[in-house]
Amino acid sequence: MGRPTFLALASVLTLSAGCLGSYGLQPGDGGAKDGGVTMDLAPAVDPTADYHAKVEPILTTACGGCHNQMGGVGIGFLAPPDTLTSLLSFPGLVGPTPDVSRIYVKGTHEGPALTADQKPIVAAWISEWNVFKPAPMDAGAPKPYIKPFVPVMGANSVDLSVLDSTLAGMTITFTAQLVGTSTLELTQLMVHSAPTMGVHIAHPLFVTWDAQYNPTPDPVDSFSNDDQTVNANDTQPLGPGQLFLQGYATGDMINIVFTTIEAKMGTLGDGGVVGSGCKNVGSFTMNAVPQLNGSSGLGLNCASCHAGGNQSATTAFSMVGLTSAPAMACASVRGEVSPTSPSMSTLFKNVDANSGVAHQGGKLSAGDLTTFTNAVTIWINAEK
Ligand code: HEC
Ligand code: HEC
Repeated sequence: MGRPTFLALASVLTLSAGCLGSYGLQPGDGGAKDGGVTMDLAPAVDPTADYHAKVEPILTTACGGCHNQMGGVGIGFLAPPDTLTSLLSFPGLVGPTPDVSRIYVKGTHEGPALTADQKPIVAAWISEWNVFKPAPMDAGAPKPYIKPFVPVMGANSVDLSVLDSTLAGMTITFTAQLVGTSTLELTQLMVHSAPTMGVHIAHPLFVTWDAQYNPTPDPVDSFSNDDQTVNANDTQPLGPGQLFLQGYATGDMINIVFTTIEAKMGTLGDGGVVGSGCKNVGSFTMNAVPQLNGSSGLGLNCASCHAGGNQSATTAFSMVGLTSAPAMACASVRGEVSPTSPSMSTLFKNVDANSGVAHQGGKLSAGDLTTFTNAVTIWINAEK
């Protein structure tokens, strides 16, 4: 049991790391980094807690008698105060996979082998540890990824801000459905940008994870050619908007690994400029805000739905920040107006009873519409 074994194990570790790396998960990328999604439906995986709950009782009972102290009968890999720290301080006892982990493969020696009941528990934890263990200090920049989670059948929402704070307010949503016994169908796969910030996504790869944390990347890599930018304040399908993941078993997790995902300043969906924002925020505050936040007494308080309170309206078009962050709100509302022909602005058509455009929020009376358009047009003209 000398050096050559350690060298051989070291090279196995390197190979295996590269292999996991193709799913964006280097051993050590997991857990502690901010790359993990903490969705309500997915309890956060904690390999340290799972070690203490599931593996430590097995090892201390079956192995501790000879391995719980340095200089004892066997090597002291379960020495106090923390058996996990001791275990990890010996090279190769916990390797990149169970098969190359010496606590798992040791078998009968002066001590016993792990029993048939204990082996799968230890093996599952070794795999879990490799995916979710805290990142080493010297880790290179990994591909950004959403941590594995169990999708719910029905509507799912993945918060992209866990990847980077610049992605605040952005989500990927989809509807999940099991087709037959082993195909997970994701439909309505949509990317939602933030009110004043777009997002650039390239090559999102979906990966399925079984209960032992064995990853299976989408075998056909469905979105390998995808390279898309979703403008601020917009919602677009991710690639073609649907995906089939074969070989999915109920309870399996999925995650998404991105080659690129970054916040993107850019034009709004319908022509307003984000970044430079509005030309005349003062005019917006003076003329438009009282109409939008209900203080002018219109029959519809736009902000009651568009500035929170109503998730679907906020997603469609946000007025968040009318008084607290007027430059941001202005940039968002700017996307709904047309300075070249103010009367054609979406902002007006949606609440005009005669426009033929449907609006869940309802319509203004003829008198209110005149008050509204007159006041807001003063600001729109200031954006020319
Ligand atoms: C009765 C005492 C005893 C018990 C109990 C015991 N061992 Fe050991 N173990 C030894 C001794 C002695 C050695 C050193 C000689 C050798 O390598 O076989 C050793 C060495 C080892 C080694 C290091 C050598 C190598 O191959 O890397 C590992 C790993 C190991 N044991 C794992 C275990 C595990 C896992 C358990 C519990 C399931 C366990 N041992 C229980 C006595 C014990
Ligand atoms: C009761 C809630 C509610 C109120 C009040 C409301 N809206 Fe809406 N609005 C929505 C919802 C929901 C949507 C998205 C679905 C739709 O287009 O009907 C929407 C969509 C819009 C759109 C289209 C956005 C896009 O992305 O195409 C515009 C423009 C709009 N509203 C303007 C207004 C204006 C102006 C007011 C105030 C005079 C107002 N809304 C009041 C709920 C509301």
